[in-house]
Amino acid sequence: MTIIAIVSQKGGSGKTTLSVNLAAAAEATGAVGLIIDTDPQATASQWGAWRADKAPEVIDSAPPRIQAKVDAAKAQGATFIVIDTPPHADSAASRAVEVADLVLIPCRPSAFDLAAIKTTVNLVRLFDKPAYVVFTAGPPHAPRMYEEAVELVRGFGVEACPHILPDRAVYRHASAAGASVIEFEPEGKATAEITALHMWALRIVDGAHVNMSTTAHEGV
Ligand SMILES: Nc1ncnc2c1ncn2[C@@H]1O[C@H](COP(=O)(O)OP(=O)(O)OP(=O)(O)O)[C@@H](O)[C@H]1O
Ligand SMILES: [Mg+2]
Repeated sequence: MTIIAIVSQKGGSGKTTLSVNLAAAAEATGAVGLIIDTDPQATASQWGAWRADKAPEVIDSAPPRIQAKVDAAKAQGATFIVIDTPPHADSAASRAVEVADLVLIPCRPSAFDLAAIKTTVNLVRLFDKPAYVVFTAGPPHAPRMYEEAVELVRGFGVEACPHILPDRAVYRHASAAGASVIEFEPEGKATAEITALHMWALRIVDGAHVNMSTTAHEGV
């Protein structure tokens, strides 16, 4: 089972958009996806309600209950869990990071947004978990801008994900229809981008597990 925490204390950075589309990308490969919505605004839960019974399932959770919800989901066959978190909330973010195999920090590639994620990066770095910034909603083609953004987040002590989710209107259209971009526009660019990001995330989690077992082995 893979558990991914999506955290950023900055509002509107793309947490919920990334959460629901990443879980949908996992479903598209045959995984049993689940979104745990820890945000009292319940945006992911709203998306889930619009979809009625269509997978991936969305459940809500108060931060202290996350581990219990993960255990129950595992028992029920979930294989890919994404935890969406609220802005301005240390406790939900901390609890989500604690149970996660991988932490993704969505961030718009603007100077103000980049400066604001330093707080989130500092919180995430308290935990020994693989963590990456994912650039969201920026221009699709701006290599120099992304190079500078990568350097900046490196300065905060965290790497950037090599896959970006640039500004694509289909995210807004799909969400409003209770759909993922994969369902809404299967041949679209956003579908290719979220699919690549999902595959990359699986490789990172696998690599982290291999490293952990190698370290354990070396310790013997
Ligand atoms: N890659 C993208 N392309 C286009 N629009 C995007 C993209 N990512 C997010 N958005 C839009 O930006 C807005 C904010 O996104 P979202 O709700 O996912 O952010 P959030 O971090 O969950 O916000 P909050 O902090 O309030 O929970 C939404 O209208 C969403 O459709
Ligand atoms: Mg949200």
